Amino acid sequence: MDPAKLPPLVRRLEAPAATPKVDGKRDLEWDLLPDTPIARVGDVSAGLQARSSAKWLYVLAEVRDPDDDRSDTVTFTVGGKTYTVRREDGHPHGPDTAVQKTTGGYRVEARFPTGPAAVPATDVAVTVADASGGTRTSWTGKVTSTPAVKLTTAPNRRPVVDGAVDPAWAPAPEIRTATLIQGTSGATARARALWSGDTLYLLAQVADPTLSEQSANPWEQDSVEFFLDPGNGKTRGYGDDDGQYRISFSGKTSVGGPLDPAAIAGNLTAAAKAVPGGYVIEAAVKLPTITLRDGALLGFDVQVNDATGAARTSAATWSDSTGQGYRDTSHWGVLQLRH
Ligand code: BGC
Ligand code: CA
Ligand code: CA
Repeated sequence: MDPAKLPPLVRRLEAPAATPKVDGKRDLEWDLLPDTPIARVGDVSAGLQARSSAKWLYVLAEVRDPDDDRSDTVTFTVGGKTYTVRREDGHPHGPDTAVQKTTGGYRVEARFPTGPAAVPATDVAVTVADASGGTRTSWTGKVTSTPAVKLTTAPNRRPVVDGAVDPAWAPAPEIRTATLIQGTSGATARARALWSGDTLYLLAQVADPTLSEQSANPWEQDSVEFFLDPGNGKTRGYGDDDGQYRISFSGKTSVGGPLDPAAIAGNLTAAAKAVPGGYVIEAAVKLPTITLRDGALLGFDVQVNDATGAARTSAATWSDSTGQGYRDTSHWGVLQLRH
């Protein structure tokens, strides 16, 4: 098979809303998602990401090419127009492209004017060429604008897990479950996160006036689910340490996610308390596979399940809008730990 004679495989990439600074530095925004790999050919490979705004399509290419040649190039074709960026550091690239040297390669940040808003997906091709070796590798796909990647923070404080909202929670920003994945209205939760030592602490204050645990399925009982990926891999399936941690309004816990959920079950402890108009959940999740530290980014989501009798009548999340968060981590938001 001669790959040069085959049409390219058309891939898909989401471009969440954001306006990164085109300066060659890797913004926090780029760290919220993993780079999409561009296959290695010889010594050359790259990682790719995209973001979108009303005016621009932003693209990041992290190129690995140890043979530093100023005429190495990255060529972008966006909506039929071609733009070539040379490796040459400090080259006057103008306001719309920037190049920076990295260990073993270079980074290109660029933005391109987007086509008419009516076009649902932009055709993009990225070709990385190593001038001296003559090798090239490329990525071809359709890039779709999506809502911004959700980001919140967890301050370094330790609450008492007893269902009473203690003052330790005050500095933690509050997020809300405003993304309905089932039904048209129902229970909502306000949530916060803290961390201390090897443990993440979670709080949910749920508005749900009628509470039920009648269903045999825990996700059809009034309950809160916290989704945690210590490595923020944004993977299609669950890794061994990714977890769906569920706590019912009466404090019963259940977990889901990886092939062996029992392996993470022991990491969860929780308390629940009824309050007028709803309930409060406080939970502690030990994360033994990583070292929690200032700046760490974790994949994170919150879901509230609203039961009416024996059926779930609505479910709402903070981030994931696909309803697949229980088996796909790629649309969770991000939780950043802070000192
Ligand atoms: C989902 C359900 C799923 C369950 C499995 C829930 O979060 O909303 O659809 O069946 O998790 O644990
Ligand atoms: Ca930047
Ligand atoms: Ca209910």
